[in-house]
Amino acid sequence: ATMRYYEFLLEERTGSPDGSDKPMLVVNGMYPGPTIEVNNDDRVVVNVTNAMSNASAIHWHGLFQRGTPWFDGTNSVSQCGIPPGHSFLYNFTLDTFVGTTWWHSHYSTQYTDGLSGAFIVYNRSETLPSTPSIDGELSIQLSDLYHRFSSDLLTQYLSTNGMTGAGYSGTTQGNEPVPDAGTINGIGQWGDSTPSYTNFTLAQNSTYRLRISNHGSFAASRFSVDNHTLTVVEADGVLVDPYEVSGLVVQVAQRYSVILRTNQTAGAYWMRHEVQQDAFTYTEPGFQGTQLGVIRYGVDNSTIPSSALVSSDPGSGSSLPDLDSTALVPYVPESPPNATFSTYVTVSMQNTGNNQWLSFVNSTSWEPLQGKATLLSGYGFNEIGTSQADSQLIVTIPDPTSGTQVVDLYVQNYDDGDHPFHLHGYKPWMMGQGQGRYQGQELNTKNPMRRDTFVLPAYSWTILRFVADNPGMWFFHCHLTWHMASGLAMQFLVLPNATTSLLASAPPVLQEQCKTMQTLGQA
Ligand code: C2O
Repeated sequence: ATMRYYEFLLEERTGSPDGSDKPMLVVNGMYPGPTIEVNNDDRVVVNVTNAMSNASAIHWHGLFQRGTPWFDGTNSVSQCGIPPGHSFLYNFTLDTFVGTTWWHSHYSTQYTDGLSGAFIVYNRSETLPSTPSIDGELSIQLSDLYHRFSSDLLTQYLSTNGMTGAGYSGTTQGNEPVPDAGTINGIGQWGDSTPSYTNFTLAQNSTYRLRISNHGSFAASRFSVDNHTLTVVEADGVLVDPYEVSGLVVQVAQRYSVILRTNQTAGAYWMRHEVQQDAFTYTEPGFQGTQLGVIRYGVDNSTIPSSALVSSDPGSGSSLPDLDSTALVPYVPESPPNATFSTYVTVSMQNTGNNQWLSFVNSTSWEPLQGKATLLSGYGFNEIGTSQADSQLIVTIPDPTSGTQVVDLYVQNYDDGDHPFHLHGYKPWMMGQGQGRYQGQELNTKNPMRRDTFVLPAYSWTILRFVADNPGMWFFHCHLTWHMASGLAMQFLVLPNATTSLLASAPPVLQEQCKTMQTLGQA
């Protein structure tokens, strides 16, 4: 195994991804931050230095952290935050993950301000489904973009007055902050500033793998390339049966690989990132929801497409329909074992009575605990008390007396919105989903899709299954930053005895971080 070493310097900077200046949080002065590229048998070592005025923690989305749950980078769960002025060394292996993922800050809404980047895990022997050879790869990182600082937006969102500002009017309690624009690889277009585009000059008649990820905070994105068919071959690190589409909606925190063939007339074509507005009640003045990039081949490397910048029927590469993510089939079949343990949770968003809207899993609205991390507390590892806080729901999956524990997680979404949820530490099977309440419908036990980030549609049930063989404290939450920060989260304590034994090898600096954070009084 090779060690891959990265240095991350976290700083507050002014940036202008779409031509409009805004306050940002960035790694190494870049937005998006550095791409981590490793092989599946590598060790990844990242030295994170926090030069910002708030604490931070960096999460490696979709990776399992088997045996190292304290490197999961989740504030108040796996660590207490890297205090300002401190450094922390993340040091982990990839376990079985191969494919496309991303890293981001997991401290409040910090990633909304720019703390994210791509994370690609190669496998030397990987061959893509019915795509014999690849001539090149492109990393496509999509995001929504907010001109205001996320902590200011969050304060307004959680206040009893709700959102205020030019784009909002009337009663706005419970309505999330909405973006001004979006970016492709950190570049967007807004207002009347001279537009810049992320652009790629490719070889003609070649085959490319586009690794697409949505690093956004609230909006899903529809991605397409004018005049080109895309073939989906990977979702969240799982190879899937090839699926040809005109375009695909990528939910927040999801990833896909698509195959693009440069087989059209030589020229320049728009890549389109259409910020999906289904969840919006308001729009900011000047909101620019269609964001463009350029793919060109067989022409000069400054050629810009001549077709309309914004069309009413954007980006149809063909007459094919868009991706139906519920129809994805894993290329390498797996049959889930029978469940030995089941747990049931509800998801809702409610007015707490004083016009403050919060999100709930069961009756708990998740909040971080100042200077505490639940993985570390309760094991004698630091001096923090053992009791579960009222503001954090923890479901314990007990150590099995023999064999393995197989968990069925029933989630009932009582909210009128769709929520892209993410489970840390695992890649569950999607056993079933449907409208209304679960009423004993048959589950899909034959090669169901498995992925780490999945949508819980409005007023629906979902059943997820996973083999609980990765001890630790694992977060389960809506990935929309506004919802995460208003409490749409819970934790699984998987195998408490095994977790306690593991913690003997956790680095002592984690304990010092908690103490420093208690002294600073920052949560
Ligand atoms: Cu992308 Cu809880 O993480």
